[in-house]
Amino acid sequence: MKQASDKLLLQALSGKTLPRPPVWLMRQAGRYLPEYRALRAEAGGFLDLCFTPDLAVEVTLQPIRRYGFDASILFSDILVVPHALGQKVWFEEGVGPRLEAIEKPAGLDRLSRDGMHEALAPVYETVRRLSKELPPEVTLIGFAGAPWTVASYMLEGGSSKDFAAGKRWAYGAPDDFQRLIDLLVEATGDYLIAQIDAGVEVVQIFDSWAGIWPEEALRRWCLEPAKALTARIQKERPGIPVILFPRGAGLLYRDFAIECGAAGLGLDTTLPLGWARDELQSRLTVQGNLDPLQLVAGGDQLTQAVERILNHLGQGPFIFNLGHGIVPETPLDHVSRMMEQIHAWNASERRAG
Ligand code: CP3
Repeated sequence: MKQASDKLLLQALSGKTLPRPPVWLMRQAGRYLPEYRALRAEAGGFLDLCFTPDLAVEVTLQPIRRYGFDASILFSDILVVPHALGQKVWFEEGVGPRLEAIEKPAGLDRLSRDGMHEALAPVYETVRRLSKELPPEVTLIGFAGAPWTVASYMLEGGSSKDFAAGKRWAYGAPDDFQRLIDLLVEATGDYLIAQIDAGVEVVQIFDSWAGIWPEEALRRWCLEPAKALTARIQKERPGIPVILFPRGAGLLYRDFAIECGAAGLGLDTTLPLGWARDELQSRLTVQGNLDPLQLVAGGDQLTQAVERILNHLGQGPFIFNLGHGIVPETPLDHVSRMMEQIHAWNASERRAG
């Protein structure tokens, strides 16, 4: 019988340097997989897929079967939280997520955590089933969007290029904006703790749009919520590692590493590897950061990029991943070749150049 401590991902998050790093990919379940596209075509709406445990379990397991990743990330979406707070959310084919407009600030009063766990019960059921069905060496990761990234979708009504609605509100009425962020800190904490109680072993918090803020705002709207969420999980569910992914935070990545108390930090594609090794990895486990488009392009540049990441970060506590989610046009055999290369690599034989 395998013990939890045999799991490579948990070992890496406990600060160990391993002969070869564990690997998983952000958005590893999804449209680049033909088996996902087939199941998706039968599921109806995207949220129906997230809220039907039989289907969500199957979709979560698909990339594990095909590639043998060391970790499995629960199949769901960051936008189930606004849905569970009472804001209407739907996914339009070819457009992406859409959310009902909220008037500011009156619409905030209509959002409520009261029915949240009931609305999210199917997600917890998916977690319970996955924790029984996954191979014993695979770690189950739960996740949520960070308060700011989720708020951006809530206020823009979907994806955005300039985040003008959120920024205008944050700069023009910071006390009201703080109320929304505080609500999301509470709701996200409740949601992650419920995922842990259902069986996830690690949680990752996706702040995909952290990088749009100037320094002070980034601290207030991204770093402080990350700190609060990490502290709550450590206090209420000690021993569950938290991975933060403040994409685009640049030099402020160092402040996340120093101030938040997380076990791991997800690096985006732009972070220089030598800097990440010296300034971040000396403090916590790092995860990342292959450009998803390098995985699409393949060939020698892919082999070299993977090698360069392994050589820089593989001598310390490290989890191989992308620097952002895998994209639908990724060729399947590029993922296989990348996996072979990572599995063949050995830390004791290499030194960073
Ligand atoms: O495999 C996994 O990683 C687990 C599932 C997962 C999904 N979304 C499934 C999904 C995870 C972890 C997410 C996170 C997520 N969702 C983020 C943060 C990470 C990131 O990529 O920045 C964000 C910003 C969202 C919001 C979201 N969901 C958008 C903007 C879109 C549309 C654009 C797109 O990438 O498709 C989604 C839809 C979505 N979420 C799909 C999947 C598989 C595609 C929907 C479909 O199949 O039609």
